[in-house]
Amino acid sequence: MPPIVVALLLQVLGGALTVGTAYLLAIFGLTLPPLGAAFMTGVYAALGAKAARLDTWWMGIQLCFAPLVVLVSAASLPPWIWIALFAALVAVYWSTFRTQVPLYLSSKRVRQALVPLLPPGRFTFMDVGSGVGGVLTDLSAARGDGEYHGIESAPVPWLVSWLRFRVGAHPNCHAHFGSLWNQDLAPYDVVFAYLSPVPMAALWAKVRREMRPGTTFISNSFTVTAVAPDRIVPVDDLHQSQLFIWTQP
Ligand SMILES: C[S@@+](CC[C@H](N)C(=O)[O-])C[C@H]1O[C@@H](n2cnc3c(N)ncnc32)[C@H](O)[C@@H]1O
Repeated sequence: MPPIVVALLLQVLGGALTVGTAYLLAIFGLTLPPLGAAFMTGVYAALGAKAARLDTWWMGIQLCFAPLVVLVSAASLPPWIWIALFAALVAVYWSTFRTQVPLYLSSKRVRQALVPLLPPGRFTFMDVGSGVGGVLTDLSAARGDGEYHGIESAPVPWLVSWLRFRVGAHPNCHAHFGSLWNQDLAPYDVVFAYLSPVPMAALWAKVRREMRPGTTFISNSFTVTAVAPDRIVPVDDLHQSQLFIWTQP
């Protein structure tokens, strides 16, 4: 079950436990104010997240969710704001529910560290899950002799990269809309990924199946357990990122 569904179910369970607790308190003549009830729901949901062994940061989200709903509801904002916000989030994080790969960007230093890893002469480069296209524009500025492709499944990031390549005049950058799982990796000399631990085993199998001998697969931050990387490049950025590099046999 995706963690977000577990988190949602825990919120419902937390709400039910809070209602039960409120009844018990009422027996002793005590009433629970809305914010107190929301906080109690958050505590139950956070404890549930720990018991369900969700990642630690889910506890913070679980704790704050219901109190924030109560606080924001008190602000009496017009209802269309919530629909608009929801639509915007869906457009940006379109596939995150299914893929468990959200949008976050490679740091400037990672993008700089990629430049010396590019092959000499003309080459083709593919960023699988290319976000808003920043990796591709930076590399094309540093190495104009490459042909850069990105595939992205979330509509808004894809649109931003598509516009960015046109407005910024990057004729050697190409934004493809779709799933990386339907993208053949055989035409590319370098494939770059910055995803999450979840798809790495399947991506590695795809890399092995499709990439040609002598070509390079680079993963920012997430490695695979199957085969140790041929090289690791540490990057001195905020996250102390690492680039894991495999040359295809
Ligand atoms: C962590 S971001 C990396 C963005 C960019 N590559 C970078 O390094 O700055 C991962 C991106 O992969 C996209 N993504 C996740 N699963 C995907 C899939 N199956 N096909 C295409 N894109 C996907 C997400 O929408 C997100 O924009």
